[in-house]
Amino acid sequence: MRIPFIAGNWKMFKTKKEAVSFAEEFKKLYKGTDVKAAVCAPFTDLEVLVKAFEDTEIKVGAQNMHFADEGAYTGEISLAMLEETGVDFCIVGHSERRQYFGETDETVNLKVKKLLDSRISPIMCLGETLEERDGGKAFEVVKRQLQKGLEGVAPEKAASLVIAYEPVWAIGTGRTATPQQAGEMCAFIRETLIEILGEEAADMVIIQYGGSVKPENASDIMNMDEIDGALVGGASLNPESFMAIIDF
Ligand code: 13P
Repeated sequence: MRIPFIAGNWKMFKTKKEAVSFAEEFKKLYKGTDVKAAVCAPFTDLEVLVKAFEDTEIKVGAQNMHFADEGAYTGEISLAMLEETGVDFCIVGHSERRQYFGETDETVNLKVKKLLDSRISPIMCLGETLEERDGGKAFEVVKRQLQKGLEGVAPEKAASLVIAYEPVWAIGTGRTATPQQAGEMCAFIRETLIEILGEEAADMVIIQYGGSVKPENASDIMNMDEIDGALVGGASLNPESFMAIIDF
């Protein structure tokens, strides 16, 4: 039985002070639900958020991590560093990192494997561009991202894996995939996971949809059988709108 999981991705928004005031507001609104909730924040906010949410069910995640244990990688953060902050999740392979920071299926794979060996769960993002969708290549692209991203992952390690399907054309554009388009791709992701990991392991993986999720469209998306959760960008920055999505 998969528990619905809705995570916010703050991207490069909110200073430490802003994160603390979000947490104070959000805790007043959050009454606890059947939905698991998390906020994935900039590195500088992680410790204060973990502390602010320690007496709640709300989890905290990072947005990236390096795959090496340590080394001369200026500006990067290691798994051990993340572990000490107390986060439970780490986004890997977001399309913005693939587009602007040279993330590839190969680096995503190294990071996912590292995280699956730890107590931090990877939220592995994938999704096609508009050009790829219009060219009829969406399913092919998503399949490749899944196969390469999960290469060498042992099925028994996959229980904590979260996949976020985020069509690049729906991110920050206000153009949401229809629930049918999102559901169709999430069903395809589940089938592909069965091919890669086997039925038992694939059945445990949470599959989220991300891309212009808002309070107005959250229930249509979340009510699709194939979709287990959402990864929310812009609408997670405001405590009321994020709570409205969690309460879909
Ligand atoms: P928006 O919800 O702002 O479209 O962003 C989606 C996203 O990229 C979440 O990771």
